[in-house]
Amino acid sequence: MRRLSPSGQRKVFGLGMLLVAGLAGYWMFFSDGLPIIWGPSARASEIAAGRELFEREWSPNDPEAHGDGLGPVFNARSCAACHFQGGLGGGGANEHNAVGFEVLPRPGDHSFLTGTVHNFSTSPAEKETSARLNKMYPMTPGRSFTTGSPGCQTTVTIPDFNPVRTQPVQATALFGAGWIDLISDRAILRNARNRGIRTAAREFALHFDDIPVGKVRHVSGGVGKFGWRGQFHSLAEFVSAACANELGLGTLTAQQAQPFTGPERASEPDLDRSQVRALVSFVKTLPRPVEADGGEPAARGKHLFREIGCAACHVPDLGGVTGVYSDFLLYVMDDPTPPGGSDGYGPAPPQLNVPARPDTGAEPAEWKTPPLWGVADSAPYWHDGSAATLKDAILHHNGNGKAVTKRYQALPTADQAAVLAFLGTLKAPPDALPLRNPAITRLARK
Ligand code: HEC
Ligand code: HEC
Repeated sequence: MRRLSPSGQRKVFGLGMLLVAGLAGYWMFFSDGLPIIWGPSARASEIAAGRELFEREWSPNDPEAHGDGLGPVFNARSCAACHFQGGLGGGGANEHNAVGFEVLPRPGDHSFLTGTVHNFSTSPAEKETSARLNKMYPMTPGRSFTTGSPGCQTTVTIPDFNPVRTQPVQATALFGAGWIDLISDRAILRNARNRGIRTAAREFALHFDDIPVGKVRHVSGGVGKFGWRGQFHSLAEFVSAACANELGLGTLTAQQAQPFTGPERASEPDLDRSQVRALVSFVKTLPRPVEADGGEPAARGKHLFREIGCAACHVPDLGGVTGVYSDFLLYVMDDPTPPGGSDGYGPAPPQLNVPARPDTGAEPAEWKTPPLWGVADSAPYWHDGSAATLKDAILHHNGNGKAVTKRYQALPTADQAAVLAFLGTLKAPPDALPLRNPAITRLARK
């Protein structure tokens, strides 16, 4: 066999390197990572066990729990109580909202606290309410005073400072969650990077530069995909957190929610590894939503949805998952409000000399583009359920979405109706399971 001359060897090596660089470049810019070949799957016995746990109405010192069972504080007694619209695993109504809170650093105490104002507690002494939270972390009242020398006086006004902010959030539908779990970080990052360049140039002839590209939220484990603010990367983490926070069932990775009103309530983890795994198996194999055939108006609406820019954020297909309609990026949907806001909540006045809100990866005004699959069966809408109809939801898009809302409003009435007809085709899966006991969705409220 003839050996290559040194220059020939260099050429082959050079070509090889070029090929490697080409593949690396392709991987960097055009590939979403490994394709999704199999959808989410789990053993049938695990899924069945998960369903039992999802529908179970838990009680304090529950025999199925390894710790103190339900509570000490909790929002409902079962997962299904809040996740039921359109079938087991769907969303909830406004009465199933969870109320989150944060307490900003304040004079005399520079800690930053976050948590949930739970609906229920096992002990009446630990009952949580927003009023109680406000009492524990009161407003620092503003004041006005005059300074300067006689004849040249100015009035200085320090506004009220309310360190407490409460935020209701709606129970989202979990259909297809296992597919979202499979979307790679790479696909989300690539979409974010390329949107302005490639997609816009090719499909929309660059008339979308009035829609800013959203913010990737990095959380432990990777890009945040779950929750209204993308606060969790993986479905398993969210499920564990939901057990701990909604039901007060601690797991090996998430401590049960503690009452903000009183001392820590330690307990063994309530759920063991196999119980959590069963719940995750059930949730991740919930059927995915479908796009029903809505005839001509819906087809036209789908075209308009791209045309006016909805699809810039509600990306139809991402990372090999078709029909998900999200880019999993954070946006600001409100127009800027003057500092102080209406409830006095906001950055502390500089005169109070307290540290700023720490960076949590999401500002209070930032929300993740929600996947629109199944949206027709998940009213009311918006993170806080403040939009009763799909049309209201569209009109709620201000801030980063304002330009698109204006284009929607400029459409002829029939075209506006076509967009709504298209959204109406995004249905909950027809094969979703019915609830065995629908009565458990009625929450006796405070
Ligand atoms: C009191 C009502 C309530 C109960 C009970 C409840 N959830 Fe939720 N769930 C919510 C709310 C509200 C959200 C949205 C939270 C957010 O994004 O901040 C949510 C979101 C989720 C998500 C994230 C979905 C996504 O795509 O972002 C998962 C997963 C989830 N819940 C699973 C569960 C499981 C499992 C249980 C039972 C252990 C449970 N939930 C119990 C209200 C509830
Ligand atoms: C700039 C990005 C962006 C654009 C453009 C955009 N959206 Fe949204 N959309 C969002 C975000 C973010 C939310 C969630 C906001 C919140 O809950 O505070 C949302 C929420 C929604 C919801 C409510 C979903 C739910 O589950 O509650 C609907 C419906 C919706 N958008 C439809 C549309 C339509 C139709 C258009 C085009 C007219 C559009 N969006 C354009 C980012 C965008």
